[in-house]
Amino acid sequence: MRARGVIVAIDGPAGAGKSTLSRRVADKLGYTLVDTGALYRAVALWARRRGIAWDDGAALGAMTATLGFAFVDGALEVDGERPGDALRTSETSTGASRVSAHPEVRAALLGVQRDLGRDGGVVLEGRDIGTVVYPDAEVKVFLVATDEERARRRLAELLARGEASTFEGVLEEIRARDKRDEERAVAPLRMAKGAVRLDTTGRSLDSLVEELAAIVARAATH
Ligand code: DC
Repeated sequence: MRARGVIVAIDGPAGAGKSTLSRRVADKLGYTLVDTGALYRAVALWARRRGIAWDDGAALGAMTATLGFAFVDGALEVDGERPGDALRTSETSTGASRVSAHPEVRAALLGVQRDLGRDGGVVLEGRDIGTVVYPDAEVKVFLVATDEERARRRLAELLARGEASTFEGVLEEIRARDKRDEERAVAPLRMAKGAVRLDTTGRSLDSLVEELAAIVARAATH
């Protein structure tokens, strides 16, 4: 067992409940939370600001390697700046999915993610944590939910922030993003070997938190 707790890898498609569940479990266990999607979102946002195209893998990779990433109280800071909600817009979601397909970007972020998890006692959530970043994580979970349930959650999130959206639009966007994430050549979204599959459709958050915390507790005592 690691001195400061185990590594918990949580993967799954958009809207499966990764962020909410990861945050709650990290809080409950006193673990650090690393939202790796925020890193890809930040790359998309910074590229936009600097006039780098989302399909220019070489330029994106070079830019990513120069950025300093840190999570402070669970919030991402890039070169000391906290982008906050600017990471969560529909445009940045699409950009994140696009930039994440480039091997240069994934390579630049791999070391960042491994550094962030090195000491254990950490929940990392993303798409390839259990398959690529930490294939030896003590706990690997693959979260799923139906497309409709995922679109409902995402729609509520967007409307709460005042972004005009429709259920059909969000459903289409989620399916397009899944397809890109699953079909890309590098580190596609896939369930890791040895991962526990958890379907969050219709489940209460509390019961999921209990179930996952119990899985982590078992792994931490082995
Ligand atoms: O989890 P999220 O929606 O914030 O992720 C945004 C995008 O980043 C998602 O479409 C795919 C990509 N991503 C990835 O490729 N690998 C990760 N570990 C996390 C996110």
